[in-house]
Amino acid sequence: MADYVEIFEMGPRDGLQNEKRLIPTSEKIALVDCLSRAGFKRIEVASFVSPKWVPQMADSGEVLAGITRASGVSYAALTPNMRGFEGAVAAHADEIAIFGSASEGFSKANINATIAESLERFAPVAAAAKAADIPVRGYVSCVTDCPYDGATPPAEVAKVAKALLDMGCYEISLGDTIGQGTPETISAMLDAVLQVVPANMLAGHYHDTAARALVNIEASLEKGLRVFDAAVGGLGGCPYAPGAAGNVATESVNDLLVGLGYETGLDAGVLAEAAEMAQAMRQHD
Ligand code: HMG
Ligand code: MG
Repeated sequence: MADYVEIFEMGPRDGLQNEKRLIPTSEKIALVDCLSRAGFKRIEVASFVSPKWVPQMADSGEVLAGITRASGVSYAALTPNMRGFEGAVAAHADEIAIFGSASEGFSKANINATIAESLERFAPVAAAAKAADIPVRGYVSCVTDCPYDGATPPAEVAKVAKALLDMGCYEISLGDTIGQGTPETISAMLDAVLQVVPANMLAGHYHDTAARALVNIEASLEKGLRVFDAAVGGLGGCPYAPGAAGNVATESVNDLLVGLGYETGLDAGVLAEAAEMAQAMRQHD
């Protein structure tokens, strides 16, 4: 049997959070419902952050309430602090994610905290999630390059990844937030992180600004990673990472993985349908 590689669908969250037009909740729900038929095990659909910081995600509770949940699919939400955690619990998110940065500049710009302050803020969230039996994922942003601080030392990524692991995160997603990584810098970063977190607890989260996300995924497969984040239609970008393009497109990652002989469990026809839907949502800009 072929090796399984999982794609964690990011479109409804990372894909849409940066859209200027406030997308109606019903359109978001329709996208998630389409994605629920594609064969994903995990879909990130919501973000309980300050609506002043990311207005597009203000209806996250309504999105989670409106979707038709498919059995076996975990619907995930970002939670930067206890307030976000409470929102996610009230909306019955199946899992949550705390999100830190390996660079101080992005940490400050994105969540208005130093790295150390952010870890202090995440600790009670992770503890509350554990008590409530809700799985917690951890993100590390700017794993190779930061829009404010330049190149990120791999040791800094390893430090933040280990801190999130020690808090109880079941998986650490490594974000090339501005899509400037190369197979060389991604590999060097992974060599450092793999000394403190095993490959089966890591995911690659690569934005495709420089069109290198697919080669970076290939480099990561060689290091043993078997989970990659992607967004249908290549939607998105981070509002606090100037110039960053969207996540690598799910359908392209799926084609790459299938071409390399991996099993993804995804229906390419449904992916194409969802990608078309996602792109149409964006055309209103
Ligand atoms: P702050 O201003 O330092 O926090 O923001 P605060 O505690 O002073 O609160 C400010 C206001 O926000 C207050 O309201 C709070 O009540 C409210 P006001 O009194 O002014 O009316 N507030 C909240 N409202 C709703 N939900 C909450 C919440 N918390 C406070 N949870 C904060 C700190 C973290 C809240 C803010 O910086 C923030 O929301 N940042 C989120 C930025 C974001 O969502 N970025 C995109 C996601 S990360 C990403 O895309 C990267 C990733 O994809 C990986 C990669 O690519 O690298 C994951
Ligand atoms: Mg991202």
